[in-house]
Amino acid sequence: MKRARITGVGHYLPEQIVTNEELTTYMDTSSEWIVERTGIKERRFFKEGDDTVSKMGTRAAEIALKNAGITAQDIDLIIFATLSPDYNFPGCGVLMQRQLGIKNIPAIDIRQQCSGFIYGLSVADAYIRSGMYKNVLLACGEIQSNVMELSDRGRNMAVIFGDGAAAIVIQATDDTSKGILSTHIHSDGEFAEELMLQHPGSNRKERITTEMLTNGDLLPHMNGKLVFKHAIVRFPEVIHEALNHNGLTLADLDLLIPHQANLRIAEYVQNDLGLTNDQVFNNIHKYGNTTAASIPLAFSEALQAGRIKDGDLVCVAAFGSGFTWGSALIRW
Ligand code: UT7
Repeated sequence: MKRARITGVGHYLPEQIVTNEELTTYMDTSSEWIVERTGIKERRFFKEGDDTVSKMGTRAAEIALKNAGITAQDIDLIIFATLSPDYNFPGCGVLMQRQLGIKNIPAIDIRQQCSGFIYGLSVADAYIRSGMYKNVLLACGEIQSNVMELSDRGRNMAVIFGDGAAAIVIQATDDTSKGILSTHIHSDGEFAEELMLQHPGSNRKERITTEMLTNGDLLPHMNGKLVFKHAIVRFPEVIHEALNHNGLTLADLDLLIPHQANLRIAEYVQNDLGLTNDQVFNNIHKYGNTTAASIPLAFSEALQAGRIKDGDLVCVAAFGSGFTWGSALIRW
């Protein structure tokens, strides 16, 4: 059986840096509150007319393709994970396909929010293992700065989320000593409404009303405390699941790259698992929570920083809206 291997990684970030101090000019918050609760110091906001989620994904993909040493024409499947697509439909996958100038290959959009990268990785891995596709491009991107409200009523989410994109190239290999060892994905729809953007949805005759605008019903809703409570249970659980599945232990782990939701969640997970600082990579202080893009963005920076070396065992894990969660083990 074929094994799937990540052969190229890239990321793209909008230029505009928005510091915690700047946010205090729009809403009743403080840098101390944000840093203490989340570890975030700054985030990026997209530039209208220049950045779109598909374009940001394409820019990241072009770097990933170059690093993999292949061209867009070699790609036989596109997967795009985002909760903030350019259009309600069609998805960003076909837009990126057009921007890359690749005709006729399939493009799949993934809607698993913070777990979008892990879900996308599992789809790519399964297709490659089955022999159906050989060169898969997985892009993840978000523009979230324009769905949050920079105001007192929007502050609980506005201080957390940011914009950015990252992409990876995954290729088939016969070398079973390296690559994606396994992926593990889960969901529990019982908590669907605890982290959601309800409107505009298809379940009402009028998708958008002036009342919704006035009431702030077009803003996302998050039960932060409940999300936190579930995240700190699911992260360790799904990391253990991946290690156990492969007959490995935490001592074998060279690097954990958790979804960058909140530094306090990552620290809790690190302590719970007894991992050292060398075994965990975080970059949320610079970008906030970039949802689907957060893991590949961190992966890209970890590689650039020399934190992932040949033969290293890397675990990626996510938890978020749905609730959905998952993990993957990679032998680099
Ligand atoms: O990718 C997955 C997505 N999400 C997550 O992983 C989020 C998980 N949850 C969290 O990260 C945390 O719950 C938050 C960081 C979102 C919030 O921290 P918290 O300790 O749960 O705060 P809270 O919502 O209970 O609010 C505490 C206080 C409240 O004031 P009172 O009622 O105690 O007077 C809030 O109104 O902090 C207030 N508050 C703020 N104050 C300053 C809420 N947002 C802000 C803010 N600045 N931005």
